[in-house]
Amino acid sequence: MTRAHLLGTGSALPKRLVTNAELAAEVDTSDEWIVERTGIRQRYIAGEGETTATLATQAALNALDDAGIDAKSIDLIVLATATPDNTFPATATKVQHALGCNGGIAFDVAAVCSGFLYALGTADSMIRTGMAKRALVIGAETFSRILDWEDRTTCVLFGDGAGAAVLEAREVAGDAADTGILTTKLHADGAQHDLLYVDGGPSTTQTVGHLRMKGREVFRHAVTNLADVLKETVEAVGVKTEDVDWVVPHQANKRILDATAKKMGIAPERVVVTVDKHANTSAASVPLALDTARKDGRIKAGDLILLEAMGGGFTWGASLIRL
Ligand code: UT7
Repeated sequence: MTRAHLLGTGSALPKRLVTNAELAAEVDTSDEWIVERTGIRQRYIAGEGETTATLATQAALNALDDAGIDAKSIDLIVLATATPDNTFPATATKVQHALGCNGGIAFDVAAVCSGFLYALGTADSMIRTGMAKRALVIGAETFSRILDWEDRTTCVLFGDGAGAAVLEAREVAGDAADTGILTTKLHADGAQHDLLYVDGGPSTTQTVGHLRMKGREVFRHAVTNLADVLKETVEAVGVKTEDVDWVVPHQANKRILDATAKKMGIAPERVVVTVDKHANTSAASVPLALDTARKDGRIKAGDLILLEAMGGGFTWGASLIRL
């Protein structure tokens, strides 16, 4: 059978690093509150000339370099973002042009913080069915541009950045011991729209709008939904949670990571945590964490890794990959 294999990863962050103390000088908050409630210590904020497309392109170039792949051989780009450069065309087409691989498939996926999982599942399906051979899956965001900087309950939580992964079609026998993406499980529940959304858009207000979130309620749903989808994913492949070498979660809040790991019986030292350095970068957070743990040598060839995320919609999902 054909399976999508992960050949390389890359990331990109804006130049400007903003610490909690710097934020507390502008917003009615404190380093102590942010660290205690979220684990966040700093975030990167995009400046002039830095957009979702420029960050995505840099992350893609780093992933191609890591994989040792020429951009020209990429025939599919799926880019997850809730903060595109323009309402249309898709930011993926800008990235395609910047990379010089024009002519293949390129489109954006909107699933907010679960965007990378949705993009990965889409690219995996297209590779399995033969529509594409080599794909770039990218999560890229400039959430700083949709934050209400007067709202301390949300503006301290997010940051900007991009992460990318190169996938390639390879033939394997097809059991759980083989390499490649083993399964991806995705879900959505539109009834929860009002707990996390942006209060603007082209077809409603003709404005970009600002992020609105009922944090405490999102937190409660996040732990339940993530634990459910993690269980569903490992069961679908017939492995046990103890077999998973690394969990690479969406980085919204250290307390969500701890509570989910505890519920699943996963040792905290097997969970990749980058929320302290990047804050919540929405669709970029999973590939940023994945790239961080691959580059620092924690995640190695042969490892079984479990990616998971939950965000606005609600949307949530998980993917099990053997490297
Ligand atoms: O990525 C998509 C998914 N998103 C998430 O998963 C986010 C999920 N939610 C969370 O991470 C947490 O709910 C938050 C970090 C957003 C908030 O933490 P919390 O422990 O749920 O705090 P809270 O909202 O219950 O607020 C506690 C207190 C409130 O004061 P009172 O009402 O107790 O007097 C807030 O006004 O903290 C206050 N507060 C702040 N204080 C200082 C809220 N934001 C701040 C702030 N600085 N930035």
